[in-house]
Amino acid sequence: MSALLVGALTACSPHGGSARSSAAASAPPAVGATSVGDSYVPGDGNGGYDVQHYALDLRITPKGTPELAGTATVTAVATSPLSRFDLDLTGLTVSEVTVDGRTASYSRTGSELAVTPATPIARGGRFAVRIRYSGNPGQVDDPALGRYGWISTSDGVFTGDEPSGAHTWFPSNDHPADKASFDFRLTVPRGLTAIANGIQTKAATSGNSTTYTWREDAPMATYLAMVDVGRFKVRTGRTPGGVPVYAAVDPAVTTTTADKLYTTTAQVVDAWSKLFGPYPFASTGGVIDDLRVGFALETQTKPEYNPTMGADPTTVAHELAHQWFGDSVTITRWSDIWLNEGFATYAEWLWGERTGTGPSVQTQFDQRYRQVDSPDLWSVPTAAPGRSQLFGRAVYERGGMTLHALRQKVGDAKFFAILRAWTSEHRHGNATTPQFIALAEKVSGKDLGRFFQVWLYGKTRPTSW
Ligand code: ARG
Ligand code: ZN
Repeated sequence: MSALLVGALTACSPHGGSARSSAAASAPPAVGATSVGDSYVPGDGNGGYDVQHYALDLRITPKGTPELAGTATVTAVATSPLSRFDLDLTGLTVSEVTVDGRTASYSRTGSELAVTPATPIARGGRFAVRIRYSGNPGQVDDPALGRYGWISTSDGVFTGDEPSGAHTWFPSNDHPADKASFDFRLTVPRGLTAIANGIQTKAATSGNSTTYTWREDAPMATYLAMVDVGRFKVRTGRTPGGVPVYAAVDPAVTTTTADKLYTTTAQVVDAWSKLFGPYPFASTGGVIDDLRVGFALETQTKPEYNPTMGADPTTVAHELAHQWFGDSVTITRWSDIWLNEGFATYAEWLWGERTGTGPSVQTQFDQRYRQVDSPDLWSVPTAAPGRSQLFGRAVYERGGMTLHALRQKVGDAKFFAILRAWTSEHRHGNATTPQFIALAEKVSGKDLGRFFQVWLYGKTRPTSW
């Protein structure tokens, strides 16, 4: 919903300045920035508007030609006057673009789709841009981050998009600073199931196809949007605490079952709701598809796990902690990724301690603190890790250690009060590391400047704090 970065990072973005200055004069035409200016994801995001909603109406034919065809309708509010604006989109063929029902002209350069509406949009104006497109999305092969994005499975396709995969399959303002609600209308060959975020509203078969509709009303970052198509064994119900659950496992997966995923998910969601504050969304669940990717992903309401992890409770505890830390309270820039991964790692440690399935949190801390010669922990600053270390040990493990050190410094009561204030003050919003530091200082009544300096920004192992 919020396009916080557009103001904050205008200086780094080539066209941000012109969009803003031309807002004052009536000419030259106002062009939305082509990037949000986040150096960790060059080119991602855009300026000049704030997306409210994505409606994705897609026909997905696994291994078909094309594999993907349909329309994306992006409803947005202009934050400056716009005679032209960009969306992010890689590959695929665009066949038509309309703005508020009128044909718009468009051009493609790299991963940008530039749209020129028939008449300029006034600042504050709400508009709907509809893109008709098709093609075979390519998976992302990133030298630093691995293989992700649109990935073929044995019987369908799976999407896992963090950080920059969303715009390989739908035109978007692809940056977590701009969250929006989503609805999905997914048409797939009869016999296959199509899963997406949120709540399933319908499934109807006609001829050789079935159309599934899903809806996520809470604001969602683009990298958390998912579709997963294939054969699934599904178990639905409610957690004892009352949250609707949808757990799906590909029958080709032999490491676990839908029942196991369902039960573990329900247990973790209720436990974290007590500790971190009310569950932020209208539904929960999870999906395990038959594929080889190296990661699990906290896709909103329905995390994705790979078959190797199965429904391992530690991993489920991690991905479901992200529903609070990452999905509801979302980063504003990728350098703050420890606000997701450090917190989710800490949650894993808490889960292990509580259930007796892992060492104590203190032991987790001590084991790592003893690793004096680990440059990946100590010479990479946790809150400024650089793109290649986005998913590295300094973010996950030193991030978790930072939280444990904070807990020791302020005491249990204040520590958990900080976590709950964080999830409630920024619920469904965006936040930054300086905001977390300010909140920790406010709740604890302590000056924590030096503490966070050594733990989050230092390039050496903290020795006193
Ligand atoms: N956020 C995921 C987790 O829970 C990791 C995603 C890694 N992404 C990637 N492209 N390798 O840990
Ligand atoms: Zn994570």
